[in-house]
Amino acid sequence: MIHRPRRLRSSPLLRALVRETTLSPSNLVQPLFVRPGKKQRRPIRSMPGNFQLSVDELVKDAKKARDAGVPGVILFGIPETKDAVATSGTDADGIIPTAVKALKDRVPGILVMTDVCLCEYTDHGHCGLVEDGKILNDPSLDVLARMALSHARAGADVVAPSDMMDGRVGAIRAALDGEGFTDIPTLSYAAKYASAFYGPFRDAAESPPKFGDRASYQMDPANALEALREVALDVEEGADMVMVKPALPYLDIIRRVKDRFGLPTAAYCVSGEFSMVEAAAANGWLDRRRAALEVLLSIRRAGADFILTYWATEAAGWLG
Ligand code: PBG
Repeated sequence: MIHRPRRLRSSPLLRALVRETTLSPSNLVQPLFVRPGKKQRRPIRSMPGNFQLSVDELVKDAKKARDAGVPGVILFGIPETKDAVATSGTDADGIIPTAVKALKDRVPGILVMTDVCLCEYTDHGHCGLVEDGKILNDPSLDVLARMALSHARAGADVVAPSDMMDGRVGAIRAALDGEGFTDIPTLSYAAKYASAFYGPFRDAAESPPKFGDRASYQMDPANALEALREVALDVEEGADMVMVKPALPYLDIIRRVKDRFGLPTAAYCVSGEFSMVEAAAANGWLDRRRAALEVLLSIRRAGADFILTYWATEAAGWLG
C-alpha cells in the first residue's frame, strides 16, 4: 500500500507534529454574571459551576480567569430594577459600570468586555424598546449607544452589542467616537441566531422575553447567506471583530464568515451547548473534560479566533 494515513498517527509526537488546529488559554473568554449586593454567589441551576456574583465575588473569579491565562471576561448584568425603557442599563452607577470599575481597579491584566443589550434591563425582556407588542428598531439605537458609552466611561476595554437591532454597530461607533473613545473596539454579535440553546442563559440573566419570542430580530437558523449579509453590514458600520452565535450548531457559518471577511472572528459557545455536555457528563454518559475540549477545538477548527465559553477558566487550567 502506498498511502497509509495511519503512519502519521502512530505516535503522540508525530500526531503533535501534524496537528492542524491549536487550542490555548489565549483563545478563550470567560462570561461572568454580576448582580447587586455583597458576598453573593448564587448558583445558576441550569448551568452547573456558574454563579450570579456580587462585585466582590466577581473580582475573585476574574482573577482566577486571569491567573489561568484567559485574556478576557465578558460581563452580563442583573440590575436592581427593570422597566420598559431599560433605564438601569444606561445608569453611570449601574451594575455593569460598577463592576467594570472594580475589575479595572483590582484585576489588572485582563480585558473587560461588556455585553450591550436591553433584555437584561427591560421588564418585558426584549432586546429593544417595545410599542404595541412590536420591537422598535431605531428608537432602541439611542439607548444602546448610551449603554455602550456608560460602559466605556467606566473603563470597558471592548463593547459587544448583542441585541441584533439594525444599525446598532454604527450608532455605538458614532457615540464612542463622539466622546473620544476612538480606540475602544466593538465586538459585534453579527450573526446571532434565534436559538433554543440560549435556554439556560435566560435563567442566568433573568431575561426571558415576557411575550412572544426573538424571531423578529435574531436570525432564522435556516439562513447562511443572510449571516454573510449581516456581517457585511456590521463591518461597514465599523465592527472591529465579529461573532457567530451559537457556535456548535453553526460551525458552517463560522467557517464562511472567516473565509469571506478574514476579520478577527469570535464564536459564542452558548449556555445550552455548555449545559448539554454538563448534563450528559453528570449522568456518566460523556467524559466531561474530553467532550468540552473537543467542542472548543472544533470551534477553532471551523475558523474562530477566540471563543466565549463557560468552560474558559477551567479549560485554560486543563490546557496549561
Ligand atoms: C442578550 C444575550 C443572550 C445571550 C447573550 N447575550 C440571550 C438572548 O439573546 O436571548 C445568550 C448567551 C448564552 O446562551 O450563553 N441578548
